[in-house]
Amino acid sequence: SSYKGQTLKRVLVTGGLGYIGSHVVVSLLLTGRYLPIVIDNCHNAYPEALKRCAEIARDEMGPDAPQPELHQIDLRNPEDIEAVFAKYDSQEGGIWAVVHLAALKAVGESGEIPLTYYKVNVGGSISLLESMEKHNVKNFVFSSSATVYGTPKIIPIPESSPVQPESSYGRTKGMVEAIMHDACLAEVTRLGEGALRAVSVRYFNPAGAHPSGKLGEEPMGRPGNLLPLLAQMASGRVKSDLKVFGNDYPTPDGTCVRDYLHVMDLAEGHVLALDALDKSKSEPGIFAPVDPKKDGYFRAFNLGKGKGMSVLNMIDAMHKASGFDYKYEIVGRRLGDVPELTADPTLAEKELGFVAKRNLEEMCTDLWRFQTANPNGYRS
Ligand code: WQD
Repeated sequence: SSYKGQTLKRVLVTGGLGYIGSHVVVSLLLTGRYLPIVIDNCHNAYPEALKRCAEIARDEMGPDAPQPELHQIDLRNPEDIEAVFAKYDSQEGGIWAVVHLAALKAVGESGEIPLTYYKVNVGGSISLLESMEKHNVKNFVFSSSATVYGTPKIIPIPESSPVQPESSYGRTKGMVEAIMHDACLAEVTRLGEGALRAVSVRYFNPAGAHPSGKLGEEPMGRPGNLLPLLAQMASGRVKSDLKVFGNDYPTPDGTCVRDYLHVMDLAEGHVLALDALDKSKSEPGIFAPVDPKKDGYFRAFNLGKGKGMSVLNMIDAMHKASGFDYKYEIVGRRLGDVPELTADPTLAEKELGFVAKRNLEEMCTDLWRFQTANPNGYRS
């Protein structure tokens, strides 16, 4: 399909109904160059999210805005993945790229049901890469996580920091990065030009929501992550007390420090990664591995602000945005937490043109606007 006379490149977005996925879908639509095809099993997301994406696109682009498509399938069923790829084979251009966000992502839970985490996160990625190979899809952006660094030696963390995850979830992300590296290397050895090119984007802590108030974080059940929890507490949707998991860390106020970045900055980082993959075909300087025979076309980038903020800083920021007076209790440390994860974002800035420009106040006011506009989230 096309928009303003330009044929759109189809991008398969797995997990595109999720918090980050839906913001990636909106960012893709708004370029007017990409058409998101979403696959999601709705395990932790609602189809309503895609309707909101389409609504935002129409608001900003007019009635002829590209319409995203949805296939409700599970990555544990390879034949269902195959069927989606086959469907687009017959249509001009097929699928141009895959942005792979679908995964189970709770660090604590991953230690309780590791086999499910490996089945979905690693098995699902292998099935996806197999279908890509079969259908000649050569561009891949993978949703990875700062958690692959475990407890890093250097802060802010450069991409050269060793991949040494300390949780099952983190290990699944590290493994998929290794699988992508090897798939890219095998193709460059076999095909040379036209080989698979893959970017792993290592997220720090996404927060906030699209400024329209129509799109946000809507996990099933009580949020595990700090920011959505603070928003739901301030709106009265969650009644339980706020527990701060430890204030005896080696950090300025004793609570954990994280690199929070606006989810729209993160989402736009995915568009920049796809644009870099596209340009790398004609501009060999871009995305050129140091030694293709050794590394293939695989690169990893941190997506963060490079600014660390503590749990107490975030509670204070959400107090300012919502006016809610948080009462919190300091309790013991949470299993799997590390003292600080702050990005060194200079490589993504240099190679992808990535800049996380939105500030803490925008994250909190945009999050609060979504919460107040959707007291029950995506449930009507
Ligand atoms: C932030 C800080 C908590 C809740 C996780 C995953 C990571 C990525 C993002 C998938 C921590 C503290 C939290 C609460 C608290 N997920 N906290 N009380 O753990 O940095 O990252 O989500 O990619 O892989 O690990 O984010 O929001 O859970 O916690 O004190 O009720 O807030 O201890 O220090 P985290 P988070």
